[in-house]
Amino acid sequence: MKVVILDTPTDVARYGADLFQQQLQRNPASVFGLATGSTPVQLYRELIERNRQGLLSFREVRTFNLDEYMDLPATHPQSYRHFMNSEFFDHIDIDPANTRVPPGDAADPIAACTDYERAIADAGGIDIQLLGIGRNGHIGFNEPTSCLTSRTRVKTLTRETIEDNARFFSAGEHQPHLSVTMGIGTIMEARLVLLLATGESKAAAVKAMVEGPVSAWCPASALQMHPAAVVLVDEAAASQL
Ligand code: GLP
Repeated sequence: MKVVILDTPTDVARYGADLFQQQLQRNPASVFGLATGSTPVQLYRELIERNRQGLLSFREVRTFNLDEYMDLPATHPQSYRHFMNSEFFDHIDIDPANTRVPPGDAADPIAACTDYERAIADAGGIDIQLLGIGRNGHIGFNEPTSCLTSRTRVKTLTRETIEDNARFFSAGEHQPHLSVTMGIGTIMEARLVLLLATGESKAAAVKAMVEGPVSAWCPASALQMHPAAVVLVDEAAASQL
């Protein structure tokens, strides 16, 4: 695990964008695993700007998102599909048909999870998997006690995660307690894993991920076992290291 401590969230976004740009120079038809949450938004803006300037292109890229809420239609403003379209895909030259988000509204969720895993394998696997981290150490929606070899599946959210994400929902709005998420085993198969963490609220989770034991209590700690995991943190998120 390589830990890179940078001054600010802007530096984190630029460094992350450089890694995506280098991968696209090596292979314009790369496969990216993408993440939601507030942390990667600056990185997406950086990539949008570089795409606009013609420094990189997503024309041949395929993407697979990490997770999705269950029982929210894709058009719902809080669905991760909606988030990805409005924060990233609508602003770059990617073919929308090449962007996939785990199915949150499938009639048969178990079969849909198997299909999602198969689609990732058929694409040749993921070149860069982008991740944020929850305050409780979750990656995707793999909450503490998730099996470290898990695959894409339905997961119940913890109270802490529901509370953390409540800021995105308006008062009285239905907030799902279930999700579909790539598993930790799925994430570990990506050729490069790139985790971003910024701000003081992530400092304890970053410490547990980097310095703690590898444990299902901190799902992100599994990345200690990954042959090419890069953790980009700003000074605030690194403050307990
Ligand atoms: C959600 C997402 C995670 C994300 C986490 C942190 O729970 N499922 O993928 O890493 O939130 O979000 P934020 O970046 O907003 O702190």
